[in-house]
Amino acid sequence: MSKLDITILGEPVLRQKARRVREFDGKLHQLLDDMRETMLDAPGVGLAAPQVDVSQRIIVVRLPDDEESVKEHGDQAGVLYEVINPEIARVSPEMIDGIEGCLSIPGYIGRVDRHVSVSVRGQDRHGKMMRIQANNWLARVFQHEIDHLDGVLYIDRASEVWKATEPPPDGPLPLEQAEASLDAGPAFAQADDHSSRET
Ligand code: NI
Repeated sequence: MSKLDITILGEPVLRQKARRVREFDGKLHQLLDDMRETMLDAPGVGLAAPQVDVSQRIIVVRLPDDEESVKEHGDQAGVLYEVINPEIARVSPEMIDGIEGCLSIPGYIGRVDRHVSVSVRGQDRHGKMMRIQANNWLARVFQHEIDHLDGVLYIDRASEVWKATEPPPDGPLPLEQAEASLDAGPAFAQADDHSSRET
């Protein structure tokens, strides 16, 4: 496995619509393994293939497995989700505001309204159909990562974006709204001092 370079805002691949995957071969498996390593190293909780300069419909997602995360997210904490050709099949009408960052937009975070729950369908690394019911933070991460495959970034949807080292423009978020969906860990950890708990 090897760690890949992460593309940064301004690189065209982040704005392209990614192609569907048709070959579920060793090359795909290598890419998935490398994406996992890149995401964990960053550290982040999700990564989409355009973020490693591959314009294909592939995402990896993994919530942390520390004690607090397990308490919060139960058996979804620490699970590695690899989804090929993911689509959001259903969404809850309920929306919730939360903070997001992105490994491709280092140093910034923003406030984004997302569906509380989504049902994601796609394929596993062998091409087998799969479906994932995701709620709360996990649902937010899936929405963020699947957006990447259509060239959409959280800053396109955010009501506000600010430097991660500064407090949010409207003051601290209530704790219950401070769930973060990040690609980006370190930036958020800094903002955390001002605005919210660590996630
Ligand atoms: Ni991102």
